[in-house]
Amino acid sequence: MNSRPNATEPNSTEPTGPTGLDSIAPTMPAAVARHYGNADVVAIESVPTPQAGKGQVLIQVEASSLNALDWHFLTGTPYFLRLIAGLRRPKRIIHGADVAGTVVAVGADVTSLRVGDRVFGENAGGGFAPYLATKAEYLAAIPEGVSFQAAGATPVAGATALQGLRTHGAVRPGEHVLINGAAGGVGTFAVQIAKALGAEVTAVCSTRNVDMVKRLGADHVVDYTTDDFEPGGARFDVMLDNIGNRSAADCISVLRPAGRYVAVSGPKENRWLGPIGHLVRTKFAFRRTDATFHQFTASSTPEDLTFLGELLASGQVVPEIQRTVGLDGVADALAEIGSGHARAKIVVVPT
Ligand SMILES: NC(=O)c1ccc[n+]([C@@H]2O[C@H](COP(=O)([O-])OP(=O)(O)OC[C@H]3O[C@@H](n4cnc5c(N)ncnc54)[C@H](OP(=O)(O)O)[C@@H]3O)[C@@H](O)[C@H]2O)c1
Repeated sequence: MNSRPNATEPNSTEPTGPTGLDSIAPTMPAAVARHYGNADVVAIESVPTPQAGKGQVLIQVEASSLNALDWHFLTGTPYFLRLIAGLRRPKRIIHGADVAGTVVAVGADVTSLRVGDRVFGENAGGGFAPYLATKAEYLAAIPEGVSFQAAGATPVAGATALQGLRTHGAVRPGEHVLINGAAGGVGTFAVQIAKALGAEVTAVCSTRNVDMVKRLGADHVVDYTTDDFEPGGARFDVMLDNIGNRSAADCISVLRPAGRYVAVSGPKENRWLGPIGHLVRTKFAFRRTDATFHQFTASSTPEDLTFLGELLASGQVVPEIQRTVGLDGVADALAEIGSGHARAKIVVVPT
């Protein structure tokens, strides 16, 4: 089942059905962006509180977090994204794909969730507001003992790292994994998930993040400002690439013969198509080798969320939260993501 939220689904502020909850105010504050642009288009506005429609639940949002995805939808770049996100104006006006919170109302046809359930998941935006109406099928239960902030930091970045390593990289215990871009949202989950899968991990980051990445469990750290991951070594079984700044030849040369190159991202070299040209060229180069090329768009399925919840509950994965902000901190946090050098996760507590 692919339960990824449809990007065209409005995180609408329009009422969609009856909740019967008199205690919830009809309007709420939200970090809203009505136009494509940089962080300065984000403003705190009062908008209608959403309601749970058919198949949906209304969540009181306790935590959301920022992802590169939010920046792409905020800026509408690369431009091909606007085919689904809205050609002239964004359909998604409240960003924040990650959500963790409590179900406060249940719409028609929802049997899997009840009022009071603690849930987390990925949505078509809407997390940078105190309430969010979303499909019940996008959500999974937050295990006992796991905080809202940890759960809210996890869906997009955690599922991307998990699917990159487990589904596409097919990482097995004892294998050696290279993680290029280990200090961001996806990277900090990837280091910990690769260790949980039993791998030896070499992580690439800049000087200021070396200690953090070591603390998260990396066996070896390459500071890309002073060093290199030594193309030609042919010593890695899997390369998880969150950056895409190296040539296909360099990536092929560090992989063992049956190695797997997993492209999470690529250089933002083209404002229209983003990394697509780079990915096509890299894929083509891998056709002449025994190593394999894998590219994917992550989708936070409830099954993956449940597995991630177990990793959180067992302490094998502890989301690295660099800071927590309120709605008034969303614009600055988005700008930090846009810089390409955000560290780990920034959590938003919208109430
Ligand atoms: N395929 C998918 O479905 C999917 C899903 C999620 C994300 N993504 C993409 O994956 C990428 C990473 O996402 P994210 O959420 O982790 O982003 P992020 O949180 O913004 O992290 C960016 C990180 O990249 C590091 N970095 C920048 N230049 C680097 C370099 N030359 N070498 C090594 N590290 C470098 C930065 O660390 P330093 O400050 O140490 O440089 C920073 O920590 C984004 O491009 C995003 O769009 C794809």
